[in-house]
Amino acid sequence: MTIQKNYLECWRLRKEFKTERGRFVAVSDFTLNMDEGEFVSIIGHSGCGKSTVLSMIAGLHNLNGGGIVLDRREVCDSGPDRAVVFQSPHLLPWLTALENVTLGLEQVEPNKRPSERAEIAAEWLKRVGLSESILKKPAELSQGMQQRVGIARAFALKPKMLLLDEPFGMLDSLTRFELQDVLLDVWSRHQITTLMVTHDVDEAVLLSDRIVMMTNGPEATIGAIETIAIPRPRHRDTVLESECFLSHRSQVIEFLEHPLLKAA
Ligand SMILES: Nc1ncnc2c1ncn2[C@@H]1O[C@H](COP(=O)(O)OP(=O)(O)OP(=O)(O)O)[C@@H](O)[C@H]1O
Ligand SMILES: [Mg+2]
Repeated sequence: MTIQKNYLECWRLRKEFKTERGRFVAVSDFTLNMDEGEFVSIIGHSGCGKSTVLSMIAGLHNLNGGGIVLDRREVCDSGPDRAVVFQSPHLLPWLTALENVTLGLEQVEPNKRPSERAEIAAEWLKRVGLSESILKKPAELSQGMQQRVGIARAFALKPKMLLLDEPFGMLDSLTRFELQDVLLDVWSRHQITTLMVTHDVDEAVLLSDRIVMMTNGPEATIGAIETIAIPRPRHRDTVLESECFLSHRSQVIEFLEHPLLKAA
């Protein structure tokens, strides 16, 4: 498979919000290109504009400037070619895990028989470690299990891009580690171009090819980009002890401790 360079192009993105106190420019001049199959994380202080950037790429926010092109097509609204995973997966409570994943497939695989769609969904639930729980409803699943369903649902859509907004932010650290490993595993097998917002420096270094560090708002933009040189496949136990990991980690922490108000 040939990798498409600049699969995602974000050019000078700008987002303004109208507030009671007037116009607020949350994000300005945000330019980022990603190659096909790349895993990029966005990190920055709370309120800097990370979710705003992700929502623009998801097509959930209109732009006040700039443009977004994904796989040579301009992004104008939301669509199943971009799967979004938020902190909580918003599963439909009256459907089983299997039905929740199958539902999404109706849109992207309309020509398949219902039994074929259910088979695909079951296979994805198996890949995220839920083969025993496919017939359970969300109320019978732990938060971590629900988020696994959310990840399975997103990958099952075979999107061009996966957009993750702090997907593990509400989980305890052990569950978080487990799900990072699940994500690392399915991403490395399927190489879906992924953009993930996170607050967790270790998570960003472990998973990413590059980490985009955002300046504080208003008019937040990219302050610096750290390219992660840790070879793949990556395994938590060996990576977390490596010097390379520690050096990337301290670079990112250094930036977060001295965030630039405006990029140089
Ligand atoms: N709908 C809105 N109306 C007005 N201001 C908004 C709106 N959405 C976001 N903002 C502002 O834009 C800025 C960026 O918000 P955003 O949610 O993107 O931050 P974030 O980096 O994702 O923060 P966190 O890490 O806490 O999730 C914040 O100052 C926020 O108050
Ligand atoms: Mg956010």
